[in-house]
Formats: sequence, structure tokens, C-alpha cells
Amino acid sequence: MTLNQLKIIEPVAGDYNLPDYSEVRKNFKWEDAGEGLSFKETGLLNMAHEAIDRHVEDGYGQKTALHYVNGDERISYTFKEVKEKTDHYARILKENGIEKGDRVFIFLPKTPECYIAILSAIKIGAIAGPLFEAFMEDAVRDRMNDCGAKLLITDKEMVKRVPEADIPTLETVLFAEDIEAEPFIDDGKAYTEWMDDEDGMLIHYTSGSTGKPKGVLHAHRVVTHQYESGKWVLDIKDDDVYWCTSHPGWVTGSVYGLFAPWLNRATVVIQGGRFKAEHWYKLIAELGVTIWYSAPTAFRMLLSQGDVLKDYDLSSLRHILSVGEPLNPEVIYWAWDELGVRIHDTWWMTETGAHLVVNLPGEKIKPGSMGRPFPGVEVGILDEAGAVVPRGTVGQLAVKTPWPGLMKEIWGNKDKFDSYFKYEGWYVSGDLAYQDEEDYVFFQSRDDDMINSSGERIGPFEVESKLIEHPAIQEAGVIGKPHEVRGEIVKAFIVLREGYAASPELLEEIRVFVRNNLAAHLAPKEIEVMDELPKTTISGKILRRELKRMEIEKSAVDQNA
Ligand code: PRX
Repeated sequence: MTLNQLKIIEPVAGDYNLPDYSEVRKNFKWEDAGEGLSFKETGLLNMAHEAIDRHVEDGYGQKTALHYVNGDERISYTFKEVKEKTDHYARILKENGIEKGDRVFIFLPKTPECYIAILSAIKIGAIAGPLFEAFMEDAVRDRMNDCGAKLLITDKEMVKRVPEADIPTLETVLFAEDIEAEPFIDDGKAYTEWMDDEDGMLIHYTSGSTGKPKGVLHAHRVVTHQYESGKWVLDIKDDDVYWCTSHPGWVTGSVYGLFAPWLNRATVVIQGGRFKAEHWYKLIAELGVTIWYSAPTAFRMLLSQGDVLKDYDLSSLRHILSVGEPLNPEVIYWAWDELGVRIHDTWWMTETGAHLVVNLPGEKIKPGSMGRPFPGVEVGILDEAGAVVPRGTVGQLAVKTPWPGLMKEIWGNKDKFDSYFKYEGWYVSGDLAYQDEEDYVFFQSRDDDMINSSGERIGPFEVESKLIEHPAIQEAGVIGKPHEVRGEIVKAFIVLREGYAASPELLEEIRVFVRNNLAAHLAPKEIEVMDELPKTTISGKILRRELKRMEIEKSAVDQNA
């Protein structure tokens, strides 16, 4: 049975923000989009103003902007309080000499301070660089050095993982604890810097198959795309309680954890702490979460916990979304059977700034498909010559340029930036997919060696570079090994230097070496020692694809044994 023949799930009747996809898509123009945002009236643009201050000006200052939950801790802020806090942080950033265009990094756990710090940097015209909370020294240093970070907001615990002396541009380190302890001064000053569409706003580091992580820079113009997708795809209404499980160090956590929901005036849930099915269900029940955005690995983990969900009242949930990795049909059917709610898959990338292919609440879902193009977005499946292939044929998933969410540049790397646009008029994603007659897009695989583990994008080069720093390792090749729950896991093949013998202790030491220097999710879950690695005959480059082919073949043999 092909994916196309799986049971379609029809929409539940409802009053959705986008009632008629086909009609809206036919007439949609980006120039007309963004109605309701203040810059459309005033011409004055700043993401932080649109996301927070605008709502206070419009009389919603007393509405709850966020609920923070971590263990037994509970904090809630209104939009007015979030505005005051961003002003407070903004004043302190200014006092520390931050000016328009400076890079301000934020290295904090998933707390209100993390969200507020990001917005305050953006408010004063700086470029915010949120870092994932589990990064270790090397990962922090590489990213901050690449774009010349000037200031860092962190806390007294996480600063231990910041190698300050190795970041020469870093002038100031501020602790969230100290900023919070300083009294807010209502000086009546307007800290908002009005920005041009093309001024930089946010930088996220992301991985490809080659080289170190790249800095994807987004400009303030993303506001329109993020606002419209929050309205139509997240389907946010004024009484919604919205929870995105991702950390703002990842693009899902910033765009759909912070910007899109707050542009649409949602009450946002911020959850600290680790994944545990009971905690997640308890949180949904306690806060009455209505919209929930997460990733397939998390849903699969919940599914594997079986009946735990029966102990909680999850009836508040009306809309669930997924992103980051293939959403398997079993998960969609599970949610539909157990919760009576569909899971809406969405596709986009760090580089694309916002949703491009989506399942909308008012439209049918074909399980196995990521959905259809967002209004204003045209998808093309291309062959090697850049020509559009017939429907049903697998090819390179590409998108007609431009659109407002599209990245502005790759920091300091024009060649890399240009490589996304190798066919005139198209952005090439690096994913392979096909599109059916009704425009639904079906993901097949990556077109390169990038690894996707639990929805986190992992570049094999970053892991390999770290592995060969270990004294026992001569060479290393890293691949994504298929895994039932996590999609893929990181697997390393290594050749040992002379004088070293393979032992469980040595392999564990190597794994810990990567974990302690880079991050836990980058550490190989499996390490296999080989006599030599497969290489190209001419350039001697390690053939990751060959390693992957061997691994998949071996797993098939193991399973059949
Ligand atoms: O391969 C695709 C996969 O994640 C990549 C983008 O990763 P990142 O920039 O980290 O952004 C993740 C969330 C926006 C894509 O090139 N991907 C993303 N969404 C899906 C997906 N793969 C399958 N199905 C999806 N819905």
C-alpha cells in the first residue's frame, strides 16, 4: 500500500481562522498580508513591538502572556509585565553599549527570562542569537565566534560552559539573576528602535552535511509570514492556551514558541525540565492547553507509554501540530483514536523562517503527507537540471523565491547562501519529496548526509571533527542510523590510531568526550571500530552513504535472523 492509499482524516467542523484554503490561496498576495500588524498602519517596524508592546497599546495589557511551569514552580505574566520586563532588559543592554546590529547571545534554559532576553535584544535593534541550553563549551564558542558576539545573557550555572577567554569579541556577560534582581525603572523611555525590513533580527546556527554549523540570519520582514502562519496554521484565537515544546535555541522554539504565538496575542506556555509523559499530560490538563505544537519523537514516546494518558483529562486540546521529522501515520491514527484530535504535520526549515508546507485544521489530512503549500508559497519538485517533474515523481523539494520568511543571509558565507539558489528563481531545500495531483507533498528523505535525530538537525562534520580530536581516533565517519522512536540516532564509525585497542571503556570515553565538549544530542549513541573506512578513490573522502548503506543492510540481516 502506498502512502497515498492510507485512510484520509477529514476535518472536524469548526470556526477556523482560514475557512477556505483553496479560495484564499488563489487570491493571496504577500503585499496585502499582515493586516492587524501596526507597521502596516504606521510604517514603523520592529518584531518586539508587534509581538508584545502593540497588545498593551491595544488595551490587552492585562491579558496573560505566559505561564511558566517547572516542577512545582508556577509563574504567570501579563502582556504589560512582559513589556515592562523587555524594557528593563533593553535599558540594561543599552547601558552596556549595545547598538543596532550588534550580536547579543542568549544562553538560558527554557524560562521566561530566555524569551524576554531575546525580545529585548530585538527591541533595541540588536541581532538576537539564542543558544540551545544543552550546548557545551565548543558548541557555544564556535557559534559566538562565527558572528562576533558582543554580549551574552546567561545565568550563573550555564556560564560555566562559556569559554569567555576564547571569544575575543565578547565584551560583556550579564546574568539573568542580576538583571531580575535590579528594580524596574519606569523611565517612560521608548526603547524600541524602528527597523528596516531588511535589518537583521535573529541568528540561528544550523547544520548541513559539510562544514561547521552556519549562522542563518533573519530580518525583521519575517514578521508578516510568522504572523499569518500563526493565525492560519496554529489557528490561534483569543482564548487559546498555546504550548510549543521546543527550546528557543531551535528555530521552532523561537518562531513558533515565541514570535508567531505572541504576534497573535496567545497565552504561551513555557515548560522547564525534561521530557516525561506524566508531566506533559499533567501540564496540558492543569493549564487547559488548547493548541499543542511538538515533534514526532515526542509523540512516539507518548504513544509508547500506552494508557498513561487515560489518567489525565486532555479534553482541552483542540489542535495539535508536528514538525521537524517525518510524522508516521500510526501516530496520527493514535492521536485521532485516543484524543479525537488530528495531528497536523508542517514542513519548513531554519532557513525558510516560517511554515511553507502545512496541514490546515479545516482541510483533509492525508497521513504520510506534510500537507500543501501555505498561501503565497509555490512548491516545485525539481530534477537535476532544475526542471519541474511530473506529479508523483520524487525530486528535489524547492520553493519559488522570494517570500517574507526567507533568510537574509548565511553569516559571512556567501557561497553557502548562494548554494541554496542554484536554479534561477528557486530555493532548494535539500529534501527529496513528491507532490500528488491535489498538491499534497510527501517527504522521502534528505538529499545529503544531514542527520535528523528526534527532530534535531545534526551535521556529521561537526561530530566527526570533534571525534578526531580524541587521541585514540585516526578517522571518523558519522551517519544517521534509522531508529524507531528517534527517527535516526547518531552512529560513528572510527579507525583507531596505532597503539589503541577497542574496548567498551574506550568507546564510552569517546562518547563522553563528544558529549562534554559539544552536546549530549551530538554524542554518538553507537560507535563501531573498523580497520578502514570506505572512501572515494580520487579524493579519498569518507563515503558516509556507503557507511549508511552497510548499516541499513546489516540491520535488515539482524532483523531477519
Ligand atoms: O529534512 C527536513 C526536516 O528538517 C529539516 C529542517 O531542519 P531545521 O532547520 O532544524 O528545522 C526544523 C523545524 C523547522 C528539513 O530540511 N523536516 C522538517 N519538517 C519536517 C521534516 N521532515 C519531514 N517532515 C516534516 N514535517
